[in-house]
Amino acid sequence: MRQTDMELTRKTLKFSFADGKLTRLFSAQKKMTMEKFNLKEKFELFSDHWKPKVVAALNQQEVKLVKLQGEFPWHYHEREDEMFLVWQGNMRIEFRDHIVHLGPGDALVVPQGIEHRSAADEECQVLVFEPAGTRNTGNIEDEQFTALQTPRI
Ligand code: NI
Repeated sequence: MRQTDMELTRKTLKFSFADGKLTRLFSAQKKMTMEKFNLKEKFELFSDHWKPKVVAALNQQEVKLVKLQGEFPWHYHEREDEMFLVWQGNMRIEFRDHIVHLGPGDALVVPQGIEHRSAADEECQVLVFEPAGTRNTGNIEDEQFTALQTPRI
C-alpha cells in the first residue's frame, strides 16, 4: 500500500468511527436495504395507472412497479435501455414495425433510442428496470402521462 493510500484509509476510518451519527446513518440505511419486500403487497399499495413507484434502487438503477391500462404515448429514451417484466396481466410493447405481446413472467429490454409505446387492454402489473431518474415518457413531455415524481413505496 502506498503511503498516500494508507493515509487516506486512516482518514476515512477515523472519520466514520469518530462520527457516531454517520455510522448510525450507514447502519440504518443498510438495515432498510436488507429488509425484504413482497411484490404482491407492494402492488396492492396503489391503484393509479401509468404512475411508476420505486421499490428498490441498486447500482444506479431503479426497480419500479407500474399498473398499465390503455395506451401510452410514443417515445424513446435517448440514453437508457429499459426492461419490462410482467407480473400480472397482459400487455403489448409496440414498435413502429412490430408488436411484442407479454404475459406474466415475460420480459423485454427496449434498447435506448428505439421508439416504443406500451399498451394494455385490461390492467397489467409490470416491473420496470432502468437507470435512476429515467423519465417515463423519455423524449416527450405529456401532461397526462409524464410522471413528475416517482415516489418510493
Ligand atoms: Ni419507455
